[in-house]
Amino acid sequence: MNEPSIIPVNRRSFLRRSGGILSGVALAGALDPARYAHGASTSEELKIALVGCGGRGSGAASQALNTNGLGPVKLVAMADVFEDRLQGALSNLSKQHKDHVKVDKESQFIGFDAYKKAIAMADVVILTTPPGFRPMMFEEAIAQGKHVFMEKPVATDAAGVNRVLAAAKIAKEKNLKVGVGLQRHHSKGYIETIKRIHDGAIGDITSARCYWNGATPWLKKRADLEKAAGRKLTEMEYQMRNWYYFSWICGDHIVEQHIHNIDVINWVKKGFPVKASGMGGCEVRKGEDYGEIFDHHAVEFEYADGSRCSSFCRHIVGCWNSVSEHVVGTKGKSSVDRHVISPTGGDAWRFDARGEKDAYQVEHDDLFDAIRNNKEYNEAELGAMSTATAILGREATYSGVEVEMAAFLKRSRSIFPPNLAWDADMPVKPGKDGIYPRAVPGQYKPV
Ligand SMILES: NC(=O)c1ccc[n+]([C@@H]2O[C@H](COP(=O)([O-])OP(=O)(O)OC[C@H]3O[C@@H](n4cnc5c(N)ncnc54)[C@H](O)[C@@H]3O)[C@@H](O)[C@H]2O)c1
Repeated sequence: MNEPSIIPVNRRSFLRRSGGILSGVALAGALDPARYAHGASTSEELKIALVGCGGRGSGAASQALNTNGLGPVKLVAMADVFEDRLQGALSNLSKQHKDHVKVDKESQFIGFDAYKKAIAMADVVILTTPPGFRPMMFEEAIAQGKHVFMEKPVATDAAGVNRVLAAAKIAKEKNLKVGVGLQRHHSKGYIETIKRIHDGAIGDITSARCYWNGATPWLKKRADLEKAAGRKLTEMEYQMRNWYYFSWICGDHIVEQHIHNIDVINWVKKGFPVKASGMGGCEVRKGEDYGEIFDHHAVEFEYADGSRCSSFCRHIVGCWNSVSEHVVGTKGKSSVDRHVISPTGGDAWRFDARGEKDAYQVEHDDLFDAIRNNKEYNEAELGAMSTATAILGREATYSGVEVEMAAFLKRSRSIFPPNLAWDADMPVKPGKDGIYPRAVPGQYKPV
């Protein structure tokens, strides 16, 4: 495949890819849209499959079903590796959307290859497993000719990013619509603020800062899981339940959460960093249930024009918290997350976000509108490159060396387990003391 552009792209193509502004022009010259894609039909029922039936999967499925006003939709299949997760989501969704959920026993699929069967039953597929599985599932959905909504991040290593980029290209050729859960691209406040920045309100952007500093999202302790199960868990089973703490499946929190803020800076910069350096570690969140990820990362990203972004993310209670993005230009500054623009010596502008529709819903409204009206819509490359940026940051903090995007994208070593089975020999295992080894800067070799 062609190497993706890592230099700033022009504004129009970036906005088009970002989904921030839809062109409204039907895609011309792709393969026969009638063969692969729905178009110009508000009466046709769109069948939806949910793969990964957890918290976000339930939310995304609900938002997809809320698009019923644009034309009929039905949830027809669900897949998960764990029966309890699938049944929990099915029960909630059936209560919320009883006329639009029809997932019989034969359409409930459990196991590592369950996704293939659920995808086969649908027109639109929602991929909301942990991110390590995204590349293989996105590839499968596109191979089967399905429209996709997939959550961010879309991979956990360079090999996965490249698989997503390759499938994104095929999706475009097949005229399949792809949404990625970087919902800030569907928030009017972000869209209007960044539009003004791109129109020159604060001049050229010379530096940026972004943060995801907060608390640990959740933890599943092995002892609690084993008590509930009444037996010992295999290592794969434990890592799948407590997935947040393992890089192969989660990516680390710089990838899993901080991607949102890093992606906003990419959006403002209309491109992706060319290199990153950083430092990080695990200072507080230690112990046998906290896997291998760090609890803090500090990265300096450098863009092609020499401007830099400092990015911090931390999961430590009792510290300064912020989830935000800020940029400084030659003629002013902006707190992008607060939708404020402050030109030097001029009056500040602020977007009034009161009454703004929830971006989680808008991203589904936009995707289903694109499917029904055959509008150009493919956020997969954007999602892949913002995922790549966040992974580049992780590789910088794990290794302690400067890492370059061009070299990163050429790497092919996967951190994913070669064998997906409950009794698989896992590449990451705890030591004799029950503690998982973590990357040691200065010794770790970037993947
Ligand atoms: N855009 C956002 O703001 C946002 C918010 C929350 C979560 N997310 C993303 O959504 C994704 C899921 O997060 P979550 O909070 O719902 O996690 P979760 O643990 O609640 O749900 C994940 C589900 O996927 C299932 N699963 C795991 N591996 C699977 C496989 N191989 N096949 C089928 N099912 C599998 C799990 O059993 C679980 O039910 C993550 O990528 C996360 O980053 C995005």
